[in-house]
Amino acid sequence: MTIDSDITMSPEQKIRVAIVGLGFGAAFVPSYLHHPNVESLTICDADEEKLNLIGDRYNVEKRTTRLDDILNSSEIDAVHLLTPIPLHGQNAVSVLEVCKHCACTVPMATNLDDLKAIVAAQRKSGKNYMGMETAVYTRRFLYVKEMLEKGEIGKIQFLRGAHYQDMEGWPSYWMGLPPMYYATHAIGPIFALANTRAKAVHCFGSGVMRPELHEQYGNPYPVETAIFEMDSPTPLAAEVTRSLFHTARDYTESFNVYGEKATFEWEQIEDEQPIVFRMEAQEGRGSKIAFERIDAPDRQDLLPKEIARFTQRSIYDETDPHRSFLQGGGHGGSHPHLVHEFVSSIIENRQPWPDAVTTANWVAAGICAHESAMQGGARVEIPDFSKL
Ligand SMILES: NC(=O)c1ccc[n+]([C@@H]2O[C@H](COP(=O)([O-])OP(=O)(O)OC[C@H]3O[C@@H](n4cnc5c(N)ncnc54)[C@H](O)[C@@H]3O)[C@@H](O)[C@H]2O)c1
Repeated sequence: MTIDSDITMSPEQKIRVAIVGLGFGAAFVPSYLHHPNVESLTICDADEEKLNLIGDRYNVEKRTTRLDDILNSSEIDAVHLLTPIPLHGQNAVSVLEVCKHCACTVPMATNLDDLKAIVAAQRKSGKNYMGMETAVYTRRFLYVKEMLEKGEIGKIQFLRGAHYQDMEGWPSYWMGLPPMYYATHAIGPIFALANTRAKAVHCFGSGVMRPELHEQYGNPYPVETAIFEMDSPTPLAAEVTRSLFHTARDYTESFNVYGEKATFEWEQIEDEQPIVFRMEAQEGRGSKIAFERIDAPDRQDLLPKEIARFTQRSIYDETDPHRSFLQGGGHGGSHPHLVHEFVSSIIENRQPWPDAVTTANWVAAGICAHESAMQGGARVEIPDFSKL
């Protein structure tokens, strides 16, 4: 896991980028527009009204409603996909097949064949594929990663992740989605911190959903809960729970890491502070455990100065210092970090993090977890994409 990139890259090296899908995708426009190594930005959305709204808001001239225009253009080097979930697999292969670098929002795909096709297309093209997993570029993730690297956590003994979100009223492709098909915000950080993949899973479906939510994906479960057996020389398990419907729990995308020396636990309610527990001396029965609420710092220092401010939601307009505007800024300040990693990996001619294989290993774990749930919790082996 290497995510610190050189922020002194030559400003002369530049790439031409396109963003496709301007719902969530609009949050990434400012970071590409201001990145010192991006020469031009083209925006694309099938909805012309949305395209022009975002184009006018950020003053982006290059616009199209057709993904084909992006694929056929010789003036675009890299494409960031933020289209609806069912399109990710096919769109990513199309981008790689025309020899352009591809970044794609989560999930990479929702079946193993599409994951295999993307990894194969990435290898064949020699271009970069990056899984744009927001959860591994948040302030909290960067904080815990540093604790781990400094040896403060010690040996990881167990990991746990949870993502609760009510999806009523979201676009139709979300209706009845198997919870583990969109579990990477919980899986990604814990697999990344364990620095390995999972080799097998047992998962149970839980709860009941109204019948029409079963139809689209043949999934009867509003909640799925999985135990992953990690690919580790010593025993290591990770537990992940995901809910999407009919469950009265406020939104959270969380991870906990239980170490021999210290533990990081996500707070119960968003906007509280997470807790770090530290093992102290043994006193009679059991050891003393100290704890503190921590404030993970905003890592603007890892970013080029031109885009560092986009970790925040409220931004000053540099052309008018009295005016501030709202932009993405969500997901723990991750958006400009993702953009910077994608752009700098291309400029530096190296693989991004997470690359195609790492992303496929995270997403396959969720796909196999749902398969296990459909088999009543049976053990399901998870393919290792580094070996395919
Ligand atoms: N934290 C995260 O990583 C995170 C957060 C939110 C959304 N997402 C992902 O981002 C994606 C988009 O989410 P959203 O909420 O904006 O979805 P959405 O369905 O609201 O919007 C998707 C946009 O893509 C456009 N579009 C659809 N098909 C297209 C095509 N063929 N060519 C060009 N444009 C097309 C639509 O017009 C729409 O504007 C989803 O896949 C979702 O999983 C990730």
